[in-house]
Amino acid sequence: MSQLESLKKHSLVVSDTGDIDAVARWKPQDATTNPSLLLAAAEDPRWRSLVESAIGRACGDPAAATDWLFVLFGREILKHVAGRVSTEVDARLSFDQQKSTEKARRLVSLYEELGISRNRVLIKLAATWEGIQAAEQLEREGIHCNMTLLFSFAQAVACADAGVTLISPFVGRIYDWHKQARKVDDIPIEEDPGVQSVTRIYNYYKKHGYTTQVMGASFRKTGQILALAGCDLLTIAPDLLQKLASSSAEVQRKLSVEEAKRQNLPRVTLDEKAFRWEHNQDAMATDKLAEGIRRFDADARKLEKLITSLAAVAET
Ligand code: E4P
Repeated sequence: MSQLESLKKHSLVVSDTGDIDAVARWKPQDATTNPSLLLAAAEDPRWRSLVESAIGRACGDPAAATDWLFVLFGREILKHVAGRVSTEVDARLSFDQQKSTEKARRLVSLYEELGISRNRVLIKLAATWEGIQAAEQLEREGIHCNMTLLFSFAQAVACADAGVTLISPFVGRIYDWHKQARKVDDIPIEEDPGVQSVTRIYNYYKKHGYTTQVMGASFRKTGQILALAGCDLLTIAPDLLQKLASSSAEVQRKLSVEEAKRQNLPRVTLDEKAFRWEHNQDAMATDKLAEGIRRFDADARKLEKLITSLAAVAET
């Protein structure tokens, strides 16, 4: 049995890509996208007709074309997964609760226009205070949320208290930050701060009986994935899915509800001021959340430019 098959006995495996062929190949349970992954997919000639279709539906409005593009990719991806696709809200809205809520409703309404139920969609929002409050409201409306760019324990606590459906705590970007800070080329798995962060969050959630699902995300190597076997879900890029499929070593469960219940992890509650203070105390998380928002925004703007230039060509 491959490591990938063995891993599936412990965690739900999710694909992390905008490449529809890769989703079709790996047939994961769920699928995640983000603006950077969809920029790469939109630049790929294989999916040009989806970009053109988004432009056609948007009647000259580049922002509307981006929304359509995200949803059209989501629809194609859903043809290959039994579960849900995650579609991300514009990073520019990360500090605007009202506009984030409106954008999420808009994306869900586009999916529904295509006959896709909101139960098959997770709306991804950056786990800022405003994003978390938007998610709390959206969950009350039956719109399920996946909180992304999650680096600090404070973000995880606030997301659980908001009752969101799922969180995506990042591993690789935490590992990247610590490698750079320590000026080293690698950090062994046993000391990996990204793996430790997800483990702590998973244990805290299970210890206190939160129903919010934990999906480890942003991996740099298979060792990080295997160290989190047992996490509710793991979203994995195609190159790492390939590596897991190519190896036949047995995968041991690393995270479990039983072990989490044994941990001494006191319950925490954070109001807005305490959330901001605690998150700010974590230099890595503060840097990475800010940088992540900038990066997703930059890629979304590149996508809008691509759409605008293709729309101009279509008009001539
Ligand atoms: C998934 O939801 C995240 O967007 C993704 O895993 C980020 O991965 P990266 O750090 O490799 O960009």
